[in-house]
Amino acid sequence: MSWHTHAIFYELYLRAFADGNGDGHGDFIGLRDKLDYLEWLGVDCIWLLPMYPSPLKDDGYDIASYYGIHPDYGLLEDFKMTVDAIHERGIKIIADLVINHTSDQHPWFQESRRSKTSPMRDWYVWSPTDERYQDVRIIFVDTETSNWAYDETTGEYYWHRFYSSQPDLNFDNPKVREEVLRIMKFWLDLGIDGFRADAVPYLFEREGTNCENLPETHDYLKQMRRFIDTHYPNAILLAEANQWPRDVVDYFGDGDEFHLCFHFPVMPRLYMALAKADRTSVVDILADTPPIPKGTQWGTFLRNHDELTLEMVTEEERQFMWAYYSPDPKQRINLGIRRRLAPLMGGDRRKIELMHSMLFTLPGAPVLYYGDEIGMGDNIALFDRNGVRTPMQWSGAPNAGFSSAKDLYAPVIDDATFGYQRVNVAAQRNDPTSLLHTVRHMIMTRKALPVLADGDLDWLHDLPKHALCFWRTSGEQRVLALHNLADAPLEIALPDGAAFSDALDATATVDSSVTLSAYGYRWLQTRT
Ligand code: GLC
Repeated sequence: MSWHTHAIFYELYLRAFADGNGDGHGDFIGLRDKLDYLEWLGVDCIWLLPMYPSPLKDDGYDIASYYGIHPDYGLLEDFKMTVDAIHERGIKIIADLVINHTSDQHPWFQESRRSKTSPMRDWYVWSPTDERYQDVRIIFVDTETSNWAYDETTGEYYWHRFYSSQPDLNFDNPKVREEVLRIMKFWLDLGIDGFRADAVPYLFEREGTNCENLPETHDYLKQMRRFIDTHYPNAILLAEANQWPRDVVDYFGDGDEFHLCFHFPVMPRLYMALAKADRTSVVDILADTPPIPKGTQWGTFLRNHDELTLEMVTEEERQFMWAYYSPDPKQRINLGIRRRLAPLMGGDRRKIELMHSMLFTLPGAPVLYYGDEIGMGDNIALFDRNGVRTPMQWSGAPNAGFSSAKDLYAPVIDDATFGYQRVNVAAQRNDPTSLLHTVRHMIMTRKALPVLADGDLDWLHDLPKHALCFWRTSGEQRVLALHNLADAPLEIALPDGAAFSDALDATATVDSSVTLSAYGYRWLQTRT
């Protein structure tokens, strides 16, 4: 059994997590102090957001050097010590690998833009016109009007899929392709366990296509995988490919490309199912999801550091989601919603738990977003997606116990509902009935039931549409996961011939039928 298929991931934004040196920014010293917490919570692998030197025009996804650490976070030595400390606790760590583009401050781009004959000209995608690749969509639609940016120095345009401050690297250049392997080697040699690879569908450009998911891109990604398999056989690659299921599955290859891929389309449908009290969209998208190679796994999630993306839904569904979950237009950005889980659920504990229960029982390796385990809020007054990247709320102390500094990189949440005085780790750790304890209990229970990671999925279809109920089966082990998407109790007659115990509550008895409370859920295990 490879570790990644059964892992629970925790997405961690270093700047937001814990400030160890009192400068108002989270850092590696701070993270080391909090490893007790992550070990207690039971997560298997940390996904660290970009920690490289960067002008932070896109919060570190604009890299200015691939071989260093942003000075706010510490030194390379701190990174290494942190990796070792994480490993000592039996936790793994993967880093963000952002290779589609660099910052425009990267020395490679500075050199490339200097002249048309620069030896590094060919490291980026230049063109005398902005007419090429007209079939390509714009991703940051609120900010960018073109994927080309004019550069006065040489009077040419450069290609960028994200902000114009993030020029795309030219993967047709073998030197770029070699350099990426060198970058991977550098970090893997420091002991990390793999990468979450950013924006992988966009590596190559070809005229007459939408420049996504191209065969050339897949060929190169397979080369990255061969490199890993040859030199670092326990390391993994997790793909951020925000695509429809039929296109994402290609990123698994025949088991020779990515170990994991995020399942972007299922995410908004969990929210939609809850909003409409109707499981159909979740059932349908999973039915449309082709099987994946043995040894690979989906990465599933409720929220992450970006907007809740609505790219992988129909226009009608997008309008529904926007109207329902972002009534204030300020809560929207690009094709998505810049809010956190708990506010999206209106702070309703029942719904927050129900969403987690679906995440932990449906196929995939769950990827939690820091702070959602305590139900943290957001702040739409902050720029871009920064409103979901506020300081972790450790306690009711000043600055939420995040930092001793006077000025923080971003204000802590202190509104009446989600403020740190009410929502924090210390209070919830002391309260066995808290959301934190409930999420932790789900993590522990899931880890004790490997069928939830590798079992087949079979829906119970003969139930009202607000019942999202399914079997997970693997050999002798069977779990029946029951979810009630409606705001009224739901009685479910259990299948004949099986005796059940409640996997989440050893004291509960299970008769021939169960009644789920409004937004209730149960995980029933067959007794053999
Ligand atoms: C990915 C990241 C996002 C970033 C973008 C450009 O989508 O998740 O935060 O802005 O890539 O690097």
